[in-house]
Amino acid sequence: MKFLKVLGNYLGGIEFSAGFRWQHWIRAISIFGLIATGFYIANPYITYGTASATPTRFLQAGFREWHIIFGFAMIGAVLYKTIYFFFFKEAKYERASIKDAFNVKMALQQIGYYLLISKHPHTKGVYNPLQFWAYTMLYVFFYGIIITGLALYAEVYHSGLGAMLYPFAKWVESIFGGLAYVRLWHHIFMWAIIIVVFIHIYMAVYNAVFGKNGGMDAIFSGMKWEKEEK
Ligand code: HEM
Repeated sequence: MKFLKVLGNYLGGIEFSAGFRWQHWIRAISIFGLIATGFYIANPYITYGTASATPTRFLQAGFREWHIIFGFAMIGAVLYKTIYFFFFKEAKYERASIKDAFNVKMALQQIGYYLLISKHPHTKGVYNPLQFWAYTMLYVFFYGIIITGLALYAEVYHSGLGAMLYPFAKWVESIFGGLAYVRLWHHIFMWAIIIVVFIHIYMAVYNAVFGKNGGMDAIFSGMKWEKEEK
Protein backbone atom coordinates (compact mmCIF):
# COMPACT_ATOMS: atom_id res chain seq x y z
CA MET A 1 0.00 0.00 0.00
CA LYS A 2 2.85 2.29 0.91
CA PHE A 3 4.37 1.51 -2.51
CA LEU A 4 1.14 2.58 -4.24
CA LYS A 5 1.10 5.82 -2.25
CA VAL A 6 4.72 6.53 -3.21
CA LEU A 7 3.96 5.70 -6.87
CA GLY A 8 0.86 7.92 -6.77
CA ASN A 9 2.89 10.80 -5.36
CA TYR A 10 5.57 10.26 -8.02
CA LEU A 11 3.09 10.30 -10.90
CA GLY A 12 0.70 12.93 -9.61
CA GLY A 13 3.13 15.05 -7.60
CA ILE A 14 1.69 17.61 -5.19
CA GLU A 15 3.03 20.57 -7.13
CA PHE A 16 4.11 19.07 -10.49
CA SER A 17 3.07 15.72 -12.05
CA ALA A 18 5.62 13.24 -13.45
CA GLY A 19 4.70 14.21 -17.05
CA PHE A 20 5.25 17.87 -16.23
CA ARG A 21 8.64 17.22 -14.63
CA TRP A 22 9.82 14.95 -17.49
CA GLN A 23 8.90 17.47 -20.19
CA HIS A 24 10.65 20.23 -18.20
CA TRP A 25 13.93 18.29 -17.93
CA ILE A 26 13.83 16.90 -21.49
CA ARG A 27 13.33 20.49 -22.67
CA ALA A 28 16.08 21.85 -20.39
CA ILE A 29 18.69 19.22 -21.35
CA SER A 30 17.88 19.42 -25.06
CA ILE A 31 18.11 23.25 -25.02
CA PHE A 32 21.61 23.09 -23.49
CA GLY A 33 22.56 20.37 -26.04
CA LEU A 34 21.14 22.47 -28.88
CA ILE A 35 23.04 25.59 -27.81
CA ALA A 36 26.35 23.67 -27.55
CA THR A 37 25.95 21.82 -30.88
CA GLY A 38 24.42 24.92 -32.54
CA PHE A 39 27.48 27.04 -31.68
CA TYR A 40 29.70 24.38 -33.26
CA ILE A 41 27.57 24.11 -36.43
CA ALA A 42 27.62 27.91 -36.80
CA ASN A 43 31.40 28.07 -36.49
CA PRO A 44 33.05 24.64 -36.90
CA TYR A 45 36.34 25.33 -35.18
CA ILE A 46 37.83 21.81 -35.64
CA THR A 47 37.79 21.53 -39.41
CA TYR A 48 39.69 18.31 -40.07
CA GLY A 49 38.39 16.04 -37.29
CA THR A 50 36.43 12.90 -38.11
CA ALA A 51 33.71 11.26 -36.05
CA SER A 52 34.54 7.90 -37.71
CA ALA A 53 36.27 6.48 -40.81
CA THR A 54 33.02 6.54 -42.83
CA PRO A 55 33.25 9.50 -45.25
CA THR A 56 29.76 10.80 -44.38
CA ARG A 57 30.57 10.77 -40.63
CA PHE A 58 32.74 13.89 -40.61
CA LEU A 59 32.72 15.91 -37.39
CA GLN A 60 30.27 18.57 -38.57
CA ALA A 61 27.82 15.79 -39.53
CA GLY A 62 28.19 14.30 -36.02
CA PHE A 63 27.39 17.62 -34.38
CA ARG A 64 24.49 18.17 -36.74
CA GLU A 65 23.16 14.66 -35.97
CA TRP A 66 23.15 15.40 -32.23
CA HIS A 67 21.63 18.82 -32.89
CA ILE A 68 18.73 17.17 -34.68
CA ILE A 69 18.28 14.46 -32.02
CA PHE A 70 18.06 17.17 -29.34
CA GLY A 71 15.91 19.24 -31.71
CA PHE A 72 13.21 16.59 -32.05
CA ALA A 73 13.32 15.85 -28.31
CA MET A 74 12.73 19.56 -27.69
CA ILE A 75 9.89 19.67 -30.25
CA GLY A 76 8.20 16.74 -28.44
CA ALA A 77 8.53 18.41 -25.03
CA VAL A 78 7.29 21.81 -26.29
CA LEU A 79 4.26 20.22 -28.00
CA TYR A 80 3.46 18.19 -24.86
CA LYS A 81 3.63 21.34 -22.69
CA THR A 82 1.45 23.31 -25.14
CA ILE A 83 -1.24 20.60 -25.15
CA TYR A 84 -0.88 20.31 -21.36
CA PHE A 85 -1.47 24.06 -20.89
CA PHE A 86 -4.60 24.24 -23.02
CA PHE A 87 -6.27 20.88 -22.41
CA PHE A 88 -5.04 19.10 -19.25
CA LYS A 89 -7.32 19.20 -16.23
CA GLU A 90 -4.38 19.62 -13.85
CA ALA A 91 -3.31 22.78 -15.76
CA LYS A 92 -6.40 24.71 -14.64
CA TYR A 93 -4.30 26.84 -12.27
CA GLU A 94 -1.89 27.62 -15.11
CA ARG A 95 -4.83 28.77 -17.24
CA ALA A 96 -6.15 30.81 -14.31
CA SER A 97 -3.00 32.95 -14.67
CA ILE A 98 -4.39 34.42 -17.91
CA LYS A 99 -6.74 36.57 -15.80
CA ASP A 100 -3.89 37.75 -13.54
CA ALA A 101 -1.76 38.57 -16.58
CA PHE A 102 -3.80 41.72 -17.28
CA ASN A 103 -3.80 42.93 -13.66
CA VAL A 104 -1.48 45.98 -13.70
CA LYS A 105 -1.67 46.48 -9.91
CA MET A 106 -0.55 42.88 -9.36
CA ALA A 107 2.30 43.32 -11.87
CA LEU A 108 3.51 46.43 -10.01
CA GLN A 109 3.32 44.62 -6.66
CA GLN A 110 5.33 41.78 -8.16
CA ILE A 111 8.05 44.26 -9.22
CA GLY A 112 7.97 45.54 -5.61
CA TYR A 113 8.45 41.97 -4.36
CA TYR A 114 11.50 41.53 -6.56
CA LEU A 115 12.88 44.83 -5.24
CA LEU A 116 12.26 43.52 -1.68
CA ILE A 117 9.91 46.43 -0.86
CA SER A 118 6.50 44.71 -0.93
CA LYS A 119 4.87 41.34 -0.24
CA HIS A 120 4.28 38.74 -2.94
CA PRO A 121 0.82 39.46 -4.50
CA HIS A 122 -1.90 36.87 -4.02
CA THR A 123 -2.30 35.36 -7.49
CA LYS A 124 -5.30 33.32 -8.70
CA GLY A 125 -3.12 31.14 -10.90
CA VAL A 126 0.35 29.65 -10.57
CA TYR A 127 2.12 32.37 -12.55
CA ASN A 128 2.43 36.02 -11.59
CA PRO A 129 1.82 38.54 -14.44
CA LEU A 130 5.54 39.14 -15.18
CA GLN A 131 6.23 35.40 -15.19
CA PHE A 132 3.22 34.73 -17.44
CA TRP A 133 4.37 37.21 -20.10
CA ALA A 134 7.99 36.03 -19.88
CA TYR A 135 6.87 32.43 -20.47
CA THR A 136 4.52 33.52 -23.29
CA MET A 137 7.48 35.21 -25.02
CA LEU A 138 9.62 32.11 -24.37
CA TYR A 139 7.09 30.01 -26.26
CA VAL A 140 7.07 32.52 -29.14
CA PHE A 141 10.88 32.04 -29.28
CA PHE A 142 10.50 28.23 -28.99
CA TYR A 143 8.07 28.06 -31.90
CA GLY A 144 10.26 30.50 -33.85
CA ILE A 145 13.34 28.32 -33.40
CA ILE A 146 11.37 25.14 -34.16
CA ILE A 147 9.88 26.54 -37.39
CA THR A 148 13.24 27.89 -38.61
CA GLY A 149 14.97 24.67 -37.41
CA LEU A 150 12.57 22.47 -39.39
CA ALA A 151 13.07 24.66 -42.46
CA LEU A 152 16.87 24.23 -42.12
CA TYR A 153 16.35 20.49 -41.58
CA ALA A 154 14.45 20.11 -44.87
CA GLU A 155 17.33 21.86 -46.65
CA VAL A 156 19.85 19.34 -45.23
CA TYR A 157 17.84 16.08 -45.43
CA HIS A 158 16.06 15.57 -48.72
CA SER A 159 14.31 12.25 -48.10
CA GLY A 160 11.80 10.95 -45.54
CA LEU A 161 10.60 13.64 -43.14
CA GLY A 162 12.83 16.20 -44.88
CA ALA A 163 11.01 15.56 -48.18
CA MET A 164 7.63 15.79 -46.45
CA LEU A 165 8.63 19.11 -44.87
CA TYR A 166 10.11 20.55 -48.07
CA PRO A 167 6.99 22.54 -49.21
CA PHE A 168 6.67 23.90 -45.62
CA ALA A 169 10.40 24.80 -45.65
CA LYS A 170 10.01 26.71 -48.91
CA TRP A 171 7.03 28.56 -47.48
CA VAL A 172 9.01 29.51 -44.32
CA GLU A 173 11.93 30.55 -46.51
CA SER A 174 9.78 32.91 -48.57
CA ILE A 175 8.23 34.44 -45.42
CA PHE A 176 11.67 35.11 -43.90
CA GLY A 177 13.05 36.50 -47.18
CA GLY A 178 15.44 33.66 -48.06
CA LEU A 179 17.38 30.83 -46.44
CA ALA A 180 20.09 33.17 -45.11
CA TYR A 181 17.44 35.01 -43.09
CA VAL A 182 15.97 31.72 -41.81
CA ARG A 183 19.46 30.96 -40.44
CA LEU A 184 19.83 34.49 -39.04
CA TRP A 185 16.47 34.23 -37.24
CA HIS A 186 17.43 30.76 -35.91
CA HIS A 187 20.38 32.57 -34.27
CA ILE A 188 18.24 35.49 -33.00
CA PHE A 189 15.76 33.07 -31.39
CA MET A 190 18.68 31.22 -29.80
CA TRP A 191 20.02 34.38 -28.15
CA ALA A 192 16.52 35.31 -26.96
CA ILE A 193 16.16 31.82 -25.41
CA ILE A 194 19.60 32.06 -23.77
CA ILE A 195 18.61 35.37 -22.10
CA VAL A 196 15.24 34.02 -20.83
CA VAL A 197 16.81 30.75 -19.59
CA PHE A 198 19.42 32.62 -17.53
CA ILE A 199 16.76 34.92 -16.03
CA HIS A 200 14.60 31.83 -15.35
CA ILE A 201 17.39 30.07 -13.42
CA TYR A 202 18.12 33.26 -11.46
CA MET A 203 14.41 33.71 -10.58
CA ALA A 204 14.04 30.05 -9.56
CA VAL A 205 16.96 30.39 -7.13
CA TYR A 206 15.62 33.79 -5.92
CA ASN A 207 12.18 32.30 -5.16
CA ALA A 208 13.71 29.25 -3.48
CA VAL A 209 15.77 31.53 -1.21
CA PHE A 210 13.07 34.09 -0.38
CA GLY A 211 9.99 31.84 -0.67
CA LYS A 212 11.48 29.31 1.80
CA ASN A 213 9.09 26.58 0.65
CA GLY A 214 11.46 24.40 -1.37
CA GLY A 215 10.22 25.91 -4.65
CA MET A 216 13.14 24.35 -6.54
CA ASP A 217 12.61 20.89 -5.01
CA ALA A 218 9.22 20.62 -6.70
CA ILE A 219 10.57 20.40 -10.24
CA PHE A 220 12.72 17.42 -9.16
CA SER A 221 10.43 15.55 -6.78
CA GLY A 222 7.00 17.03 -7.55
CA MET A 223 6.54 18.23 -3.94
CA LYS A 224 7.12 21.41 -2.02
CA TRP A 225 6.75 22.47 1.58
CA GLU A 226 3.60 24.10 2.96
CA LYS A 227 3.45 25.78 6.38
CA GLU A 228 1.08 23.90 8.68
CA GLU A 229 -1.87 25.97 10.01
CA LYS A 230 -1.75 25.92 13.82
C1 HEM B 1 17.03 25.95 -28.35
C2 HEM B 1 16.94 25.44 -29.54
C3 HEM B 1 17.94 25.57 -30.67
C4 HEM B 1 19.13 26.26 -30.72
C5 HEM B 1 19.77 27.08 -29.62
C6 HEM B 1 19.68 26.09 -32.06
C7 HEM B 1 20.87 26.65 -32.52
C8 HEM B 1 21.37 26.49 -33.80
C9 HEM B 1 22.51 27.18 -34.36
C10 HEM B 1 23.33 28.23 -33.61
C11 HEM B 1 22.69 26.74 -35.62
C12 HEM B 1 23.79 27.16 -36.59
C13 HEM B 1 23.21 27.98 -37.74
C14 HEM B 1 24.35 28.40 -38.67
O1 HEM B 1 25.01 29.40 -38.36
O2 HEM B 1 24.56 27.77 -39.68
C15 HEM B 1 21.68 25.76 -35.89
C16 HEM B 1 21.55 25.07 -37.09
C17 HEM B 1 20.57 24.16 -37.34
N1 HEM B 1 19.51 23.82 -36.51
FE1 HEM B 1 19.20 24.55 -34.65
N2 HEM B 1 18.85 25.27 -32.78
C18 HEM B 1 17.77 24.95 -31.97
C19 HEM B 1 16.68 24.18 -32.30
C20 HEM B 1 16.57 23.47 -33.48
C21 HEM B 1 15.46 22.61 -33.79
C22 HEM B 1 14.22 22.40 -32.91
C23 HEM B 1 15.72 22.07 -34.99
C24 HEM B 1 14.82 21.12 -35.74
C25 HEM B 1 15.05 19.89 -35.86
C26 HEM B 1 17.00 22.58 -35.43
C27 HEM B 1 17.63 22.24 -36.64
C28 HEM B 1 18.77 22.85 -37.13
C29 HEM B 1 19.37 22.53 -38.43
C30 HEM B 1 18.87 21.49 -39.41
C31 HEM B 1 20.50 23.37 -38.56
C32 HEM B 1 21.43 23.45 -39.76
C33 HEM B 1 22.51 22.42 -39.67
C34 HEM B 1 23.52 22.58 -40.80
O3 HEM B 1 23.75 23.70 -41.27
O4 HEM B 1 24.08 21.58 -41.19
N3 HEM B 1 17.49 23.43 -34.49
N4 HEM B 1 20.87 25.64 -34.79
